Amino acid sequence: QAHTKKRLWTTADFQEAFPKRGVNSHKGDHGKGLIIGGSEPMPGSVLMTTKAALRTGAGLLTTASVKNVISMIAGNNPEAMYIGASETDGCITGIDNIDLSGFDAIAVGVGLGRKEETAKGIFPALLKYKGPIVIDADGLFHLRAYAADFKLRQAPLILTPHPGELAALMDISVSDLLMEPFRHSSDFAKRLNCYLVLKGKHTIITDPDGNQTVESSGNPGLAKGGSGDVLTGMILATVMQSKSIFAGINNACFLHGKSADLLVQEEHSEQDLLAGDVIQGIPKAIRTFS
Ligand code: APR
Ligand code: MG
Repeated sequence: QAHTKKRLWTTADFQEAFPKRGVNSHKGDHGKGLIIGGSEPMPGSVLMTTKAALRTGAGLLTTASVKNVISMIAGNNPEAMYIGASETDGCITGIDNIDLSGFDAIAVGVGLGRKEETAKGIFPALLKYKGPIVIDADGLFHLRAYAADFKLRQAPLILTPHPGELAALMDISVSDLLMEPFRHSSDFAKRLNCYLVLKGKHTIITDPDGNQTVESSGNPGLAKGGSGDVLTGMILATVMQSKSIFAGINNACFLHGKSADLLVQEEHSEQDLLAGDVIQGIPKAIRTFS
């Protein structure tokens, strides 16, 4: 690993990579994103991923989910568009009605549930898609059965596991993973030819060559269900707007942590901070650091 780099992602890095909007820019310049997620038992995650992607500057956003989830979240996110996926018992079982080729990037996995029919209905179709794919949460659970196929895909693959999800994917224990998180991240990113975001107090971001950055912002107020779903939407949006996938991912992690930090310094505490507050804090974090 002598030739690979490890470093902190700084405010200067953030500022340099943060997209500037030309005065004549139009929505097509800022990315057309698709989120695939949600199920009747878990409607909230995809709601937050959708809102976070919008707040992070996605030009056009479509969310594909089951009908009852869409009717719950559409009023909350009127800026997004919606597509009803095929469904059985409140879970997605097919996306054949969606033309994936029209999107600049796709985020899949939050709130999907773990039914095999869900994976069968989504992953074979996704494998034919030629742009960047972000996989999180239950999508990472389903990825185990498709990892070898994804390895052969040419376009960028971005995985955003917490330690439990990465340990399961690598078939090692969480304690072994956390003993050497940099080495394991680098091994796995190279093995799958993917970008890897190992989330935690210090999130480690690895590119397919094994170069690594560490995100130093964020606080225990984020240790709550939903904050990962917010990050997924932010990564989708920044990846579509950045010249480099790696810089886009880093900028999303930076903003996510900074939003939580500003909120905890000002109106919130680590106890009461909610994932939804982190989305509301994005504008201030952008104004403060960009
Ligand atoms: N300090 C700083 N950041 C933190 C801390 C901390 N102590 N704890 C968590 N975070 C950040 C992580 O870096 C990550 O960005 O909060 C986010 C948490 O993401 P996830 O672990 O994916 O959490 P989330 O998906 O929202 O909720 C947990 O994951 O495995 C499932 O079923 C499980 O419902 C649970 C869900
Ligand atoms: Mg998660």
